[in-house]
Amino acid sequence: MATTTYEFTRGLDYPSIVATSEKVAWTVDAIFRDRRFNATKRIVPDSWVRTQHLEFLNEQEQRTLNHIRAFSYVHLFGNYEEFIPLHLTGIVQQDWHDDRAHLRALLRFGEEEIKHQQLFLRAEAVLEASCGYTFGRYFDPNKDRVIAFTKAVLAYPPLPRFLLLAAFEWGSQRHYVESVRDHPGEGSDPLYVDILQYHWIEENQHTKTDVLEIEQLARAMSPDEVSTAFDHIQGLGGLVDATFVGQVEQELATFQSVTGRRLAEPEATALREALSQSMRAIWAEVALTHPNFKRVALELSKEGAAKLGIV
Ligand SMILES: [Fe+2]
Ligand SMILES: [Fe+2]
Repeated sequence: MATTTYEFTRGLDYPSIVATSEKVAWTVDAIFRDRRFNATKRIVPDSWVRTQHLEFLNEQEQRTLNHIRAFSYVHLFGNYEEFIPLHLTGIVQQDWHDDRAHLRALLRFGEEEIKHQQLFLRAEAVLEASCGYTFGRYFDPNKDRVIAFTKAVLAYPPLPRFLLLAAFEWGSQRHYVESVRDHPGEGSDPLYVDILQYHWIEENQHTKTDVLEIEQLARAMSPDEVSTAFDHIQGLGGLVDATFVGQVEQELATFQSVTGRRLAEPEATALREALSQSMRAIWAEVALTHPNFKRVALELSKEGAAKLGIV
């Protein structure tokens, strides 16, 4: 098999990834200390919610929706990440005697994702303490849904899993940047911004490991097989989309219970529609249109990339 070298891995190597990961590592306690979110203001950018055009909502209700979305983000991210350590140890197990730096990059990546899950769970709890009420969760405490989600993701081959993962990780960069850039003069909640920033700092290393793994997997495949990986990304996207639908229902229920407002059917429909659109925009769109993801997709397979609308 001819070895293909992709431009998208230029300058990347496992020893540097591990070294940077050691340098930038943080702890959940150091981020939170005894801090709280400021529930008198919005917590995340308006662009994450996109309900401002709905005139039947007053300012306080808009703020409540903002807090609800802040919760949904950490709730979904924490649960999405549960498949990652298993996904990575599957690669590690292929050769325990492989290069030390390679295995450390993969194992640190997995360990960091478990730490991120703790970060997001802590954020869920502190959001509830700061806002004074509980938020609806699509992923149940018994973990039935996250177990099913993880299993369904892992049923796909490693290449599309790495590709979608890299897209979501690059998406987390945009989430951080938007949280700082939105509303000049009045940014998002400082604790929330820190969570997004520290998360991205580690995700940044993960994207480098992703593309090195993507290169190795793609090298061993025919062009048709690489193109098929993009059909699988759409399949994985369907799994994620089902969680958006489920969490938006939770958001509507939380909104009605917190505000005591019973929405008439046309209002509920308009709100559900707006929340569904913004949910897809902040996750799927920011990820799949990230310039780095587009570059990787196009270099791997123009035919495959076109299936995601990337040309
Ligand atoms: Fe993460
Ligand atoms: Fe990550």
